[in-house]
Amino acid sequence: MSKAKPVSRSGRFSSGPSAEVEEFGESVSFDYRLWQYDILGSMAHARMLQKIGILTQSELDAILSTLEKIGEEINEGIFHWDESLEDVHMNIEAELTRRQPAGAKLHTGRSRNDQIALDMRMWLRDQISDLHLELARLQQSMVDLARANDRVVIPGYTHLQRAQPVFLAHHLLAYVEMFDRDDSRLIDCFQRVNVCPLGSGALAGSTLPLDREFVARELQFVDRQGKPIVTRNSMDAISDRDYIVEFCSVAALIAMHISRLAEDLILWSSSEFNFIRISDGFTTGSSLMPQKKNPDVAEIARGKTGRVVGNLMSLLVLLKGLPMTYNRDLQEDKERLFDTVDTVRRTVRIFSAMMPEITVNAKVCRHAASDPLLLATDLADHLVLKGVPFRDSHHIVGAVVALAEKLGKPISDLTVNELKSVDPRFDASSRRIFKLEKSLSSRTMTGAPSPESVAGEISRWKELLAHRIQSAS
Ligand code: ARG
Repeated sequence: MSKAKPVSRSGRFSSGPSAEVEEFGESVSFDYRLWQYDILGSMAHARMLQKIGILTQSELDAILSTLEKIGEEINEGIFHWDESLEDVHMNIEAELTRRQPAGAKLHTGRSRNDQIALDMRMWLRDQISDLHLELARLQQSMVDLARANDRVVIPGYTHLQRAQPVFLAHHLLAYVEMFDRDDSRLIDCFQRVNVCPLGSGALAGSTLPLDREFVARELQFVDRQGKPIVTRNSMDAISDRDYIVEFCSVAALIAMHISRLAEDLILWSSSEFNFIRISDGFTTGSSLMPQKKNPDVAEIARGKTGRVVGNLMSLLVLLKGLPMTYNRDLQEDKERLFDTVDTVRRTVRIFSAMMPEITVNAKVCRHAASDPLLLATDLADHLVLKGVPFRDSHHIVGAVVALAEKLGKPISDLTVNELKSVDPRFDASSRRIFKLEKSLSSRTMTGAPSPESVAGEISRWKELLAHRIQSAS
């Protein structure tokens, strides 16, 4: 299909760019995915042009129906994208104008600079809404895993050394908290994405009486009261990519949280820990070692975090030296953003699918959590309740641990007399400290893992997430 040459090259230029330059500069091979928003934006702009008397009703009708037709063809995959037309905007506009002479009026008062800013904001709005729902589903799958194993106790770790006993559910819910902060950052970021830049022109607005508020309303750039939200400075509006950096930084945090979760799952599924088993569908074998079952999904997710963080860095470096206002460098933002969105959304989705595929080895967990040394701090707290300053009780329990090591038995097997030999304030009740259930049920303050608090958190999350998922889907 032959196409009219792009509008912006007519007149001023006597020859077109060389094939090499064309290939170097084209962006349609990746920005084509903005097509739907480009068409919606053009339709709203056209309606506004009709409203202010620049398009007649019949010109508007012709433009709208042709744009709709082009949209259908793109959707069906039969539209021919032409790289010599550079980007998504010129491909669609050139085709519109080829079919409809009135199309030549569409770009009135508009520049590709405000057009691309609009398309990106509209595209990102929808991506954020989808990710918001996908994150809630991931959280829900983790809450379900926590609930299905709500009696399982594991050692909690610091420095990757066994520290104190916790419910596995408490550990899983820690990630639910992280993802929730990510979600609130997404919602916050949405506020800054949801601002309409159209009408900013190339950089200085327009001499024509454009109705920016009308366009904003048409494209749902509105606040809760339905009031249009438009950018307030045309120069900022067309060169601002902060919202992309912001999104990519939220995405980097999500990826980092998933990567930490991946690391826990990888450790837990190793023979050394053996706390969990990930089903065959989410693991792979080794081409050489027949016994291997590798947690590839978790490993790939951990690996992909690198590129998500890299995309954020690329964007910051891309922007840092740009003079006002639009510079073509900005075209480089797209692949970084697209890759970030694709990578993070896919990872979030595959992790929600993997959670139900995890089975917990409750016995192994119990065995690991039964290490009485995990309750050494409880023993120190026990002395504190007898009036011993904590710094002293910490020291005393250290000596108790050393004695147990010397006698070659677990700390919980020390007799009352052996305990008393370290400090006379120990008594018969001191030996009762080594009861795992008692230790956990004493942790009743907000945020701590008593069975009641953990159960309460599980139901709080279940309810909250069910509600969130329902209102977002
Ligand atoms: N493809 C361009 C971009 O992504 C669209 C805007 C082009 N503007 C221009 N003045 N050449 O930034």
